Amino acid sequence: MTLTRFRSQASDSQTGITAPDAPSVHVVTFGCQMNKYDSLLAEGRFRKYGYRMAESMKDADVVLFNTCSVRDHAEERAFSWVGELKHIKKERPELVIGVMGCMAQRLEEDIFGRANHIDLVAGTRSFDRLPEMVAEVRARRANPEKFRPKEQRVLDTGTERKIAVDRGEEIYTGGLHGWLAVMRGCDLNCTYCIVPTTRGRVQSRPIEDLVREARWMVAGGARTITLLGQTVNSYGEDLAKPTAGEPMHRGRQGRPSLADLIDALVQIEGLERIRMVTLHPSYVTEALAESIAKSDKVERFLPLPLQAGSDKVLKAMKRGYNNDLYRKRVEILRRIVPDIELGSDWIVGFPGETDADFAESETRLAEYNFAVNYIFKYDARPGTRSAEGEDSVPDAVKKERNARLLAAAERAGRIRHAAHVGSTRKVFVESVSEKHVGDLRGKTEHGLPVSFAGDPALVGTVVPVVIQEASAFGLGGKLVEEAFGAPNAS
Ligand code: SAH
Ligand code: SF4
Ligand code: F3S
Repeated sequence: MTLTRFRSQASDSQTGITAPDAPSVHVVTFGCQMNKYDSLLAEGRFRKYGYRMAESMKDADVVLFNTCSVRDHAEERAFSWVGELKHIKKERPELVIGVMGCMAQRLEEDIFGRANHIDLVAGTRSFDRLPEMVAEVRARRANPEKFRPKEQRVLDTGTERKIAVDRGEEIYTGGLHGWLAVMRGCDLNCTYCIVPTTRGRVQSRPIEDLVREARWMVAGGARTITLLGQTVNSYGEDLAKPTAGEPMHRGRQGRPSLADLIDALVQIEGLERIRMVTLHPSYVTEALAESIAKSDKVERFLPLPLQAGSDKVLKAMKRGYNNDLYRKRVEILRRIVPDIELGSDWIVGFPGETDADFAESETRLAEYNFAVNYIFKYDARPGTRSAEGEDSVPDAVKKERNARLLAAAERAGRIRHAAHVGSTRKVFVESVSEKHVGDLRGKTEHGLPVSFAGDPALVGTVVPVVIQEASAFGLGGKLVEEAFGAPNAS
């Protein structure tokens, strides 16, 4: 074993200065929003150590790939990007190349075997010490007598640490749309899923810390905050229940819950919108629905993946619910938040899925009226329970089911979006359209995308828009100028 695991603790040798000749880092991110958030945190750590952010891989001293393992394709893409750097490393041997995130966690030292120009591997619970790991690589390179080339590599894929990044000391760089990981990891065991392996057990953060970070983001310009978690509505389940004298929250046995967190966050002045990604049906509660209902800062859209329409397939997936239970959860949400829109992820071609099972996915998609649907072909991930058996549905059948479910999603999307035509919606203006000059892009209070003509100065504000047209994927409308004292109506 030539590789030394990285063990040193964070040092406090920070300069806090970002000079033009300071070393530079470039982070390439794959995967979900949690990875994008982690990349931001990692960048923040580098800034603290005096690094600048490089525009591209070509002119960076350190290049990091924050990777995803959820499907094989995601891993192959990351390796192909890493491969691009091979010739650059030949020209600039001082370059440090690192792989972080879920694939780093899954493959550990095997990563070095796949691409021997990689210097550093950081798992999902060690990215906060990346600057120290880079320093360690450099120090070893400077001492070639002691460390032969392979021993200059550094790896940390431990899962026992808590990520504790205090962003309050940094300058917020996230822009209008802030992300906040309220919990990390997943305690469920869906048989197809690699995430519990790559992200470890659930760790929720205390409400006070999250409110502090949210305030800091809003003070730095964030107007929306997306609450992130692999099963975000199980937030708080792992926290201690209150002891005598401590305040009772609305989670299990008085624990803090997502409902309590939302109630605290909506108090933040200047914060316009709160979103959540991704919910699990088993943890939908009346308390959560009530917190959504009582504040117009909470988007009336919930990603609530069903994954498959057939109870038999749901059982084989070990999702922990059947359609009866799912329907009851949807009923709670629609009773308390009548206009809520839902989204779902779907897996087609799970082992053993028959034509009849698949037909139930089409039926349920229409029954639950999901406005937004993401459809994936089942991919057997090494190390997961379902990969132990046969990947029994032929690829051609998966492709066909994928196309059919996409068509069903389009039909449902068209119906759901059309239902908003004629109404006036509170639209959070997100950006200026790059495609259509003069158009703005925003999200309604139901989280549905809408385009309309307007002044770029409106970006970051909430404006009334009358919805005039709908497609399967979004809305078009017209600004209601009078209602907000339009900038051009003085
Ligand atoms: N925590 C989220 C999902 C995270 S992974 C949840 O529980 O819903 C994002 C999506 O990828 C999943 O919802 C699922 O639809 C899909 N997915 C996960 N593993 C997969 C696999 N092995 N093959 C195909 N799709 C998969
Ligand atoms: Fe994966 Fe299931 Fe956990 Fe979602 S709930 S991350 S699909 S194991
Ligand atoms: Fe991918 Fe890891 Fe996210 S596997 S989807 S980057 S949690």
